Order: sequence, then C-alpha cells, then structure tokens
Amino acid sequence: MQKRQILVTTALTYANGAPHLGHLVEAIQADIWVRFQRMRGHDCYFISGSDAHGTAIMIKARERGISPEELIESVHAEQLRDFSAFLIEYDNYYTTHSEENKQLVAAVYEKLKQHGDIATRTISQAFDPVQNIFLPDRYVKGECPRCHAKDQYGDNCEVCGATYSPHELINAVSVLSGATPIQKESEHYFFQLQHYEEMLRKWGQSGHLQPEVANKLQEWFDAGLRDWDISRDAPYFGFEIPGAAGKYFYVWLDAPIGYLASFENLCKRKPYLELNQFFGADSKAELYHFIGKDITYFHALFWPAMLTGAGYRKPTAIFVHGFLTVNGQKMSKSRGTFINASTYLQHIDPEYLRYYFAAKLNSNVEDIDLNLADFVQRVNSDLVGKVVNIASRCAGFITKNFDGKMANELIEPALYESFIQAGDTIAECYEQRDFARAVREIMALADQANQYIADKQPWTLIKQADKSAEVHAICSLGLQLFRVLVTYLKPILPELAKKTEQFLMIPPMTWHDRRTTLLEHKIAAFIPMLQRLELKQVEAMVTKPTEPVAKKEEKALVIKSEKSTLTEIKAEISYDDFAKIDLRIVRIAQAEAVPEADKLLKLQLDIGNGEMRQVFAGIKAAYPNPADLIGKLTVAVVNLAPRQMRFGMSEGMVLAAGPGGSDLWILHPDDGAKPGMLVK
Ligand code: MSP
Ligand code: ZN
Repeated sequence: MQKRQILVTTALTYANGAPHLGHLVEAIQADIWVRFQRMRGHDCYFISGSDAHGTAIMIKARERGISPEELIESVHAEQLRDFSAFLIEYDNYYTTHSEENKQLVAAVYEKLKQHGDIATRTISQAFDPVQNIFLPDRYVKGECPRCHAKDQYGDNCEVCGATYSPHELINAVSVLSGATPIQKESEHYFFQLQHYEEMLRKWGQSGHLQPEVANKLQEWFDAGLRDWDISRDAPYFGFEIPGAAGKYFYVWLDAPIGYLASFENLCKRKPYLELNQFFGADSKAELYHFIGKDITYFHALFWPAMLTGAGYRKPTAIFVHGFLTVNGQKMSKSRGTFINASTYLQHIDPEYLRYYFAAKLNSNVEDIDLNLADFVQRVNSDLVGKVVNIASRCAGFITKNFDGKMANELIEPALYESFIQAGDTIAECYEQRDFARAVREIMALADQANQYIADKQPWTLIKQADKSAEVHAICSLGLQLFRVLVTYLKPILPELAKKTEQFLMIPPMTWHDRRTTLLEHKIAAFIPMLQRLELKQVEAMVTKPTEPVAKKEEKALVIKSEKSTLTEIKAEISYDDFAKIDLRIVRIAQAEAVPEADKLLKLQLDIGNGEMRQVFAGIKAAYPNPADLIGKLTVAVVNLAPRQMRFGMSEGMVLAAGPGGSDLWILHPDDGAKPGMLVK
C-alpha cells in the first residue's frame, strides 16, 4: 500500500473562551480520522491552534483589566488542556498571534497586492465617540426600524428577522459606552474575490466539497461575489498592514494563514518536514480542513482564492460538519446545556463522548444531537454491555484455569476470518467519515461474539472435567475476537485500546496486524476497563453549581421538617432569592399524555424569542385531553435547573392555580399577553 502524506486541520478556536462540547464535535471527528490514518500506516499530521485576534478579544481583555496577550495566553492554555483531556492528538496547537503568522500574512498580502487583488475604498461606519473606536455591527444596539422591538443588534432583528445596517437602528447606542454612535469615514482595504470566480467555480465542482456544500457555493455565485473588506482601523488587536499605519488586517484574513503558521512552527521541531512539502503549488500531499458549517464561506471561497493568489496549493477537501444540539435544542446557558469541556470532564469519561459522537457522525452537514438519556443508554449497552463484556466473560477462565495462557489452536476459524474480513468495510467507512456506520458494523460483530459465547456456555462446560480444552479454546477465541473489535474501535477509543494492549500484553495495535493471531500467548489479569455511566453523572453535569444557595436551602429544609403540614408556609426567602426565579408568560405549543405515567403531561412551551422548553407537568387530572391546552398561555419558571426524568428532560415548571387534582387552571389566550413577557 502506498504511504500517504496527509495534513489535517481543525478550525482555530477563538481565544475568548474555553472549549465547549460544540468545539469537541469537530476536534473528535478530526481526531478519529487522523488516528485511523495513522493506524493504517500513513503519515498524518494534525494541527490547529487558537485564533487570537479581533475586536471581541480586545474588548474582553479590557473588561477583565488584562492585556490581550495575557488573555489569549491563558485561554490557549485552557484550550490545550481540554483538547488533550479529550485525547485529541494534535502535533501542534499553535496561535495566530505568532511571529511565523505575522511573516506569512505579510507575504501572502504582498503576493495578492502584486497580483492586483487589493483595492482601497472609503467607507462610512458606526463609531463610538467616547471610546474612539469603530463599532462592529454586534456592538451597536437599538430599536428595530421595522418592528420597533427594543434592544436589537446592529445587523439584524431577533424578533422580526429584518436585516439592516447599524445606522438604520432607532435610538442606537454603543454597547461599549452607551453613547450614540456617529457615522465616520475611513479608508478600507478590500480583497477582490471575483478575480478568482472562474477558478472557484471549477474547483467547487471537482469533488473537493460535499454535495450540499457545492450547492451552497452555487447559491453564492448566483448572488454574486463581492469584495471582501480585509482591514480594520486602530485600535485593533491584530497585525498592522505593512505600509498602512493605523490599519490592521481583519482577523479572518490572518486566521486561515494560521494553519500555515502552525505547520511551519511544527517544521521547526521536525526537521524532516518543510512547509512547501504540504503547501507548495505542486505539492502531492493531501490537505484537509475540518470545519463547522458556519465558516464555510471563509474556507470554500476566500481561502482557496487566497492560497491561489499567494502561489500555494488548494485544499484536497473541506470537510464540513453540522452544529451540536443537546436534547434536540440549541445549547443554552439557562438550560445548563451549554456545556464546557472542563465541566463535562468533572463528571464523565471523555471516551464516552468520543464514542457517542462517533456513533452519530457521518459525512453530511446535518446537525448532530447529544440526547442525554440516549447517551447513557448507548454507552452502557454498547461499550459496557457488549464490547468489554466479551473480555470479562472470557478472561477469568484463562487466568484461573489455564495459567493466563491462551490456547494453541484457533477453533471456529470461519468466525474469526469473518471478523478480519469485516475490517475492510469498516476501514472504508472510516475513510469516508461515516463513523456511524463503522460503529454499527462493529457492534454487529460484538453481538456475534457475545452470541457465540452465550451458545457455548463455557461456565457450564467448565464443570465437566473432559471439557477443559474446549473451554480453553472457546475463551481464547473470545479474546481474539475482542482484540479485533478493539482494533476497529481504536481510533474512537484510544484509552480502551491502550488498556486492551496492556491486558493482552501486545504491542500497539495497527489495522494491519489485526490478522496476527495470538496462540499460546500469555496475558495479564483482567481488570475492569470501563465503568457504567450513571444518569446522575449526566444530571450533575447539566445542573449548574449552586454552592452559595445550598446553605440557605439546608436551613429551609430543616424548618419544613420540624412542623410539616401540607399547607405549611415554607421558610421565608429574601427578595434576592425570589428575584432569581425567571417567571415568564409562555404559550403551550404542544401537549401530549405520557402513556407510562398517569399524572403527567409532556408540554412544549414557547417561551418567546423562538426558544422552546420541554416540561413535564403533573396536571393530567385537570386536563385529561391534552389538546385542550394547545395554544393556551400560562406562567412558567424558565430558569429551573433541568431534570432528567424517566421520560425525558424536564426544563422548567409550569404554574397553575387551584386546589389541585382536576381543579387546576391555566391562563387563557389574551390579546395583551405574548410568550416571553416577564411576569412582574
Ligand atoms: N476562529 C474561527 C475559525 C477560524 S479557522 C481559520 C471560529 N472559531 S470558533 O471557536 O467559533 O469555532 C471553532 C470551530 O468550532 C468552528 O469550526 C465552528 O464551526 C465549530 N463550532 C463552534 N460551535 C459549534 C457547535 N455548537 N457545534 C459544532 N461545531 C461548533 O469559528
Ligand atoms: Zn424587528
């Protein structure tokens, strides 16, 4: 087999916050692919880093009273720590705020200029006269010119969906100072993307992009390619444009060049590597960028155009993935589902998330959902119940009855051979990034292995003295099959693979040597490899810490238990405690009975601004016909910590009035009320 030279990148993470589970979709997807390529014997380098420049980072550093350099350094350390903890095996995790990047950016810009791709034009923009800074659209807020909703951003209205420029907002204010922005002119530099239209059209149709991405490009061509504004005025945290004092490169110009910089920095540590080997115009090496769908325009249009203009090669492919949702909805801070990598790590084994994402990922751009109940079920039934179970059922016999040595023959060679053969299909699934299918194939094999052991019943046979050799052979085969399965899972579960290698006392498993049978081979004692995942671990992860409140709750509990009657008034709470409760008018968008529970209804609540909450409410007796509730308004607590119930996640509490049972009332629609209104 030809040894391939492959370079893989993940998008450079903004250095203004710690990684969250959304970032991990990408890092895990790419890491699995990289580990697979390495297991196949190819040279595969994997790089990324933090994206350090831009207004947001500058402002955030100001707010914290530190320099942008200090901010990006501490965030970079956090990112590296979290990605490593999730077993993401980068060769280099660098930063765009580096000397290498500065040089490369200047060189690329010079080439584009020589090529005649840079134009200058004076434009007028919102400017904060107090802070003396030009304001990006998101830093201006005001009333929507169309629907008059208050407090809308300068680029679009979240209430009616209108798009506009910041100067069209009514009573606009700067988010930074509260001052009224003025319009101010300045000269900007533009990259003339249309110079590359023909090349991009051809490239976009030649197998470098997923079909849905190629279609998106077509839409963009139809809408017309426009000049790209690549400069920003001081003050800005970034690289100054050579020969243009007070003008800086827009963060998105230097960010993708950060891929080159990260690789060049790696070359310094690995003298046998050289930038042009992977980026030279005639490079035969493969270059892949894993990115999320939100940054497709930058990677599928600007980036190949910039590379071409600067005399570099274009990517072999861009692999675009969708966004992460949790329990079917956008990650949300108030629901506790905006989960940071480090929060996850406090509660759950990182390999479980790698497995769950793998089981859901394929080569398309659709969003992927982390359903928390399904996550627990999947991990326990597949990894603990199926895979590791094979080893734990067989290992004991080998250790206790056969001196820790495997048999000298392979019974059922056909079964074993079918496991080896399946490796070709599974490899093809990995190569095509259809990890979901790879996992399905692997679990089907695990079912077969378990079935084989269940049929043979070594635990019964061992009681018959003359069946000892048979037990030895059955359990040895079980372990051989287990070894092959873990080989196939190794790109996803590198730690499980490591434990298996130690247990079986074998060198690191590669794709090819799955064919090597272990005969009369000594193994180590089996120690449990994976713990069952408990629902309460997941609950703990989505419940925000409440230490300061906890003490007060304790007190309240004591008072209640001392003299508890049904109508007893609970311990007094302070106004501050009350103010923490976010009460809103909500509309019941959907209501259905929960067949397994005689009191519960499952409600989908529209809480305004297009946000939804799923709530289980014990009001079936009052509303035996759930359809009666649809469209009605009620009051709900929308910031209650989500609770995992047997039937799904409950993300709030509806309030109803009445003595209880069948006498409970929900508000009726009223012209004056609409979802999202605060209850005062
Ligand atoms: N800094 C830019 C990328 C520059 S690349 C030259 C950026 N950074 S980011 O931190 O916002 O996102 C990094 C990657 O994570 C992007 O590919 C983005 O699409 C992905 N994701 C961010 N949030 C995500 C989800 N909620 N779900 C899945 N991927 C997400 O964009
Ligand atoms: Zn509006």
